[in-house]
Amino acid sequence: MEIFKRSSDMREWSDQMHRVGETISFVPTMGYLHEGHLSLIEKGKNISSSLVVSIFVNPTQFGENEDLNAYPTNIERDIELIKKKGANALFLPDKKEIYPENYQTYISLEYLPNHLCGISRPIHFRGVATIVAKLFNIVRPDAAIFGAKDFQQLQVIRQLNRDLNFGINIVGSPIVRESDGLAMSSRNAYLTSEQRQSALSLSQSLLKAKEMVESGERYANIIKSNIRNFIDSFPYTQIDYISICDPDTLNELIEIDREFLFALAVQVGKARLIDNMLIKPIS
Ligand code: PAJ
Repeated sequence: MEIFKRSSDMREWSDQMHRVGETISFVPTMGYLHEGHLSLIEKGKNISSSLVVSIFVNPTQFGENEDLNAYPTNIERDIELIKKKGANALFLPDKKEIYPENYQTYISLEYLPNHLCGISRPIHFRGVATIVAKLFNIVRPDAAIFGAKDFQQLQVIRQLNRDLNFGINIVGSPIVRESDGLAMSSRNAYLTSEQRQSALSLSQSLLKAKEMVESGERYANIIKSNIRNFIDSFPYTQIDYISICDPDTLNELIEIDREFLFALAVQVGKARLIDNMLIKPIS
């Protein structure tokens, strides 16, 4: 597996691959890899003839009081995992390579960031859109694979791809969970064993909401307040949001009359955790 630290080297490799007729799948990450990341790599390998992974903890998507400096890292282990999965190249730039002195171009979307995580993380999606656009220009993939765990991020990237004519096949991939239902996340490393028990309230909430809808509940507020009480009953939890919204626009629904996204963000100790599920009412 090739490892590139310079954008120019990465791009040259991709251009050469395309010249000899290869197609490229791309999986961008911030490292500290788990089975969720590895499932994206597997999916990418099935779509194209070669696969590129990137690891870069992108500072512009972290707010001032967020966990940029505490973000977990284990590059040696990550490299071994990526190699084992059969990736062809790893792009591993440092901060200066991506944001050199006098860097000044950012990409902001008009509407999608004004919902869900974007409300308490106002600069987050500007940072995500900027780094993903830069990575797309450096790696020039034919397909890029993103996890549905970050559902809003996936929608932001689909929109970015359409709006800026990247022409990349954006592929969403299902949430990978621990056996007890906890969605895998690099941030789960922050949880103590007691907090981990409380973290299960997120995935359990998804199932509760689904059950309520399946037994006929149609008022979003009733479901939300029920789930709020449920999560509040766990120690160490602080709810950021509970949302029942349109999966495409992310606008909140009052009444449930079609498939919707049930999404939530909860601070558990030092970890800000998110989870979501698409739910279809049975008519
Ligand atoms: P990171 O959190 O490292 O996630 C990288 C990719 O893995 C994202 O597409 C994310 O949705 C996916 N992922 C994380 N946990 C998952 C799980 N349990 N199941 C399935 N997929 C999962 O998301 C980012 O990095 C960054 O914002 C990035 C896109 C790299 C831009 O900096």
